Amino acid sequence: FMKRRKKWNHYPPGPTSLPFIGTMLHIDFRNPHLSFNQLRKKFGNVFHLQNCWTNVVVLNGYKTVKEALVHRSEDFADRPYTPVYEHLGYGSKSEGIAIARYGHVWKELRKFTLSTLRNFGMGKKSLEKRVTEEAGFLCSAVGSEEGRPFDPRFLVNNAVCNVICTTIYGERFDYGDKTFKRLLHLFEKFLNEETGFLPQLLNVVPILLRIPGVPQKVFRGQKEFMDFIDVLVHKHMESWNPAHIRDFTDAFLKEMQKGKVAEENGFNYNNLRLVTADLFGAGSETTSTTLRWAFLYMLLHPEIQNKVQAEIDKVIGRERSPTMEDQVNMPYTNAVIHEVQRYGDVIPLGLPHMTYRDIEFQGFFIPKGTTVITNLTSVLKDEAVWEKPNQFYPEHFLDVNGQFVKREAFMPFSAGRRVCLGEQLARMELFIFFTTLLQKFTFVLPEDQPRPREDGYFAFSRSPYPYLLRAVPR
Ligand code: HEM
Repeated sequence: FMKRRKKWNHYPPGPTSLPFIGTMLHIDFRNPHLSFNQLRKKFGNVFHLQNCWTNVVVLNGYKTVKEALVHRSEDFADRPYTPVYEHLGYGSKSEGIAIARYGHVWKELRKFTLSTLRNFGMGKKSLEKRVTEEAGFLCSAVGSEEGRPFDPRFLVNNAVCNVICTTIYGERFDYGDKTFKRLLHLFEKFLNEETGFLPQLLNVVPILLRIPGVPQKVFRGQKEFMDFIDVLVHKHMESWNPAHIRDFTDAFLKEMQKGKVAEENGFNYNNLRLVTADLFGAGSETTSTTLRWAFLYMLLHPEIQNKVQAEIDKVIGRERSPTMEDQVNMPYTNAVIHEVQRYGDVIPLGLPHMTYRDIEFQGFFIPKGTTVITNLTSVLKDEAVWEKPNQFYPEHFLDVNGQFVKREAFMPFSAGRRVCLGEQLARMELFIFFTTLLQKFTFVLPEDQPRPREDGYFAFSRSPYPYLLRAVPR
């Protein structure tokens, strides 16, 4: 006990804790990244919080976050237990991937998912073809707006979701499909229900979830979203033929047939629905929100849009569809897309991590089982790294000769063992969708509209406020 107390003397500093609620009043749960930036100024790059009796440590700045995620990868690879998801079917035997505890089952499922996505074309020509085809559908839908003002949100969401849906469920939805509109609406509700004080409180005082009706009332959208996923999976199972694997769901079902070993590795029905829900959830909103930031920045910076279009005209021309091979010859466009991801900062706090063992980190003691928040905003906008952290400035990714340069602090996908599993797919979608649309259209602000806001709102991801644009054919 004495040894432990001595170690705890080196616990990171933080705001004063109140009985029961801990430090929860210090955080604006609608804008936690802003509260963290304030606390960082006072307590430094590693500070602690206490959500009721849950210990939380927040890591800030490129150097600190990189040291934790890359150099001490396993120490920080665990995820905190999330009781608010139990009513959706998450439990000790099935945790999906994104919120799964670090261990054997997570490793098996992640390995299987990565290799299956590759088999279905992630990082290869076959998926590129699918993305290019979807970009064509998106262009037609944008074209049918005939230069009138419209909100790009639904069309972009639809296009991005179709890429992930074809890979997982072998299905795409026509733009305007009612069922699909409902799915997207439910997913939006899902994300909103994640944010704010109440979900945080229920997570750390899970006994409140036992009050009859509470989870159903607070998380109604999440439950409906999972019911929807169940319908997709069931429909799929009815037409399943092991001799003909059509997509990710089929491949998972085949794995489930492999008996006891597969069962021990986590291949059960509940994990099938949770893993596909994870891929759908993690793979759609993130990418489509990034694209909406991209179009917004083009509206706000027409001179940058002109330069991208000039490069498209020079390298690809107006007719041929863009391919991933064009990327190396398009340093300016590549830099713009990277800057969209940096400045747009779509997942400001990443996903929560948890220490896998007791650790010493930058002179502090952090006990096993501490929730760790990696403040990605503080990396993507680190004043010690970026010349103009709070401006949209594609030159961050260009050298003096106009050639593309990689930057180590570019971490929108996080890093280390839990790094985003869909990074390759996301990069492909961002490049193909962005260049295809700018090849065909110029985005302009409708005359009678106020200048859109450049700041975003937080609901797990950071999204632009809704805006209207006009897509003028080139
Ligand atoms: C995890 C960002 C697209 C699947 C993550 C994490 C971030 C992230 C920050 C948390 C990593 C951590 O815990 O440290 C993004 C961004 C995207 C994107 C910015 C698009 C621009 C995708 C796509 C897919 C995907 C397209 C699916 C095909 C996942 C999964 C995880 C994850 C499954 C959990 C990984 C694990 O816990 O092992 N992503 N992501 N993401 N992402 Fe993405």
